[in-house]
Amino acid sequence: MERTPPVIFVDPVQPELDRLEQAADLLRRGRLVAFPTETVYGLGAHALDRAAVRRIFEAKGRPATNPLIVHIATIAEARRLARVWSPAAEALATHFWPGPLTIVVPGADIVPAEVSAGLDTVALRLPGHPVARALLRTAGIPLAAPSANRYTEVSPTTADHVLKSLGTRVDMIIDGGPTNVGIESTVISVTQDYPVILRPGMIGEEELRAILPEVVAFDGATVMESTPRHSPGLAPRHYAPRAKLVLVKASRPEFEARIRERCPKERMGIIAIGNELGAGLEDVPVVLLANEPEAYARHLYGALHELDGYDLETILLEAPPEDDPWRAIWDRLRRASTPQQ
Ligand code: TXA
Ligand code: MG
Repeated sequence: MERTPPVIFVDPVQPELDRLEQAADLLRRGRLVAFPTETVYGLGAHALDRAAVRRIFEAKGRPATNPLIVHIATIAEARRLARVWSPAAEALATHFWPGPLTIVVPGADIVPAEVSAGLDTVALRLPGHPVARALLRTAGIPLAAPSANRYTEVSPTTADHVLKSLGTRVDMIIDGGPTNVGIESTVISVTQDYPVILRPGMIGEEELRAILPEVVAFDGATVMESTPRHSPGLAPRHYAPRAKLVLVKASRPEFEARIRERCPKERMGIIAIGNELGAGLEDVPVVLLANEPEAYARHLYGALHELDGYDLETILLEAPPEDDPWRAIWDRLRRASTPQQ
């Protein structure tokens, strides 16, 4: 029997460098190490080692047609992995890195085809989490790292989520505590005439437009139909819990009425927003999220993981506001609630 992977605890603010040596060594030798970033935990492998990159796809059960994000320690390294590093890429990198932004650029020849799923572009990110940065510096190599979960499952925001999803499929897990942003990075492509947001994230359109006024947001449905491989994070069912997630757009009294109606018949859990639910619903597992987008995003995946621990048929989710700061959250909610085909 394979043994469960060693879990190394490190300080999330001032990571002990000696504790990262073993992980760095495993990575240099082509093994898989899960580590925290400020968004979600990543499943890392040596980005320039084809065999190591293939192990990521095997461990996740992810189709080889989905390209990976390459994490780097410095902007100089990003330039080395790009065939073209445009003024737009430079502007985005200097303003938003280190941070939760992934920049898609034309890829250099040294980037293996496996990383980019055969595309001639590469997605680059310089993460802000001190542990991710220390690991990248210690390993001295770029790290391909998708979210550290099995394909289509909810992304991990704790080391425990990684262990539950990947188990023995990973060689080591670095535990740096819960992640702060909570949902995946914004992905922006600067490979065309104008910059395009391929995946919304907590760095929003407005913020990006302040640096590059010509930024446009891509319409996910169009991408899916025309070029499914262009941005696989836009696959309709993604980030999904095992229980069926049902979004309820209703006033609080209506929401509670809906719960009472379905409750006796279904094993059900609730994700509510803002204030606690009224009396009489004490037997239903409830997670209460903040009515504020940053805090909501930070805890959303944790809420889904938590409720999945109850073996539920259904999760009823009280819909959050729909204005701009909630856009990336809505993107994830829509995908998580798409029924399986
Ligand atoms: O926050 C994050 O980005 C996390 C952490 C670990 O950094 N990573 C992550 O990776 O979410 P993953 O593999 O789950 O999502 C990668 C996304 C894909 O869904 C795709 O949209 C985009 O990055 N992507 C990667 N390479 C691309 C490329 N060459 N062209 C277009 N999109 C690409
Ligand atoms: Mg993912």
